[in-house]
Amino acid sequence: MVVAELTTSETNFKYIDGRRYNNIEGLKYPLPNDYDELDRLHLQHFVIRHIFQSNFSAPVEHVLNRDGSKVLDVGCGTGSWAFDMATNYPKAEFIGVDISPVQPYSIKPRNVSFINTDVLNGLPFEDNTFDYVFQRLMVISIPRNFWPDHISELTRVLKPGGYLELSEIGPPYELGPVSAKIRSAFEHFSEHKDIDFNVLCKLRSFVEQNGQFNDIHEVKNESFFSPETGKLGRAAIDNIKILFGNLISTLMPILDVTSEEYYEMVNSMCKELSDFNSYQHIIRIYACKMENN
Ligand SMILES: C[S@@+](CC[C@H](N)C(=O)[O-])C[C@H]1O[C@@H](n2cnc3c(N)ncnc32)[C@H](O)[C@@H]1O
Repeated sequence: MVVAELTTSETNFKYIDGRRYNNIEGLKYPLPNDYDELDRLHLQHFVIRHIFQSNFSAPVEHVLNRDGSKVLDVGCGTGSWAFDMATNYPKAEFIGVDISPVQPYSIKPRNVSFINTDVLNGLPFEDNTFDYVFQRLMVISIPRNFWPDHISELTRVLKPGGYLELSEIGPPYELGPVSAKIRSAFEHFSEHKDIDFNVLCKLRSFVEQNGQFNDIHEVKNESFFSPETGKLGRAAIDNIKILFGNLISTLMPILDVTSEEYYEMVNSMCKELSDFNSYQHIIRIYACKMENN
């Protein structure tokens, strides 16, 4: 299924083993940005929405129903979340920022727009611009020690009284032998790239330490791969299968296997995830920016 139109010339991209990536010097992000990956991001969006039975947890319903409220989606990917939200809340204005120019530009709700920018270089907005700042699944995009600075930047563009919401997923638990090998290859990659695979455990303290928030809340959930979760578990496994397929150029050299062996390992991992009732934690932290800042 084709899910997005390209917004920029193909010179923004580079190709490795037939997969398309951002052509940006020094970019840490290891995933491709071709249609296979964009389809996966859509699938993942619907899995997460189903797990939480909602698109967000912060108490911002009234804000979203107000004329002209401004919402920022940081690292918006394909824009799945922003599209869903913009359709449900037509009075609010949604802006998605992402380094990858892959968002649809013609077929989209009129209250969504996108800006392609590297969020690690700061956000291209004035102080106190947004009523609600949302960020999801940026664990492999933000260097371990940069999280506090990044949260300060998100806070800068948030209006006093506005809400920040951060959502991350953690490593899988209860693993079979092949899954454990793949997980440890991913941990090796994370160490090497200075990524904190377990950042979800630290999000709350980052927000507390920022010092500009009150009303800090945490909503925890699990994404199970077991057959008992029916279609949801199967969709979660499909997501992991495509994700690790898309990580082939990163993980294959660490595992020191051929591409055939790698895909066999990913297939075995998917069977194990179901057989061993494996799961991942998924978290949402939301907090209100103090009025007197
Ligand atoms: C795992 S995807 C999550 C997408 C979306 N937030 C979601 O939940 O569906 C991570 C996104 O971060 C973007 N990204 C990675 N590094 C970035 C950077 N330095 N600046 C802006 N976006 C970045 C990627 O292009 C990708 O779209």
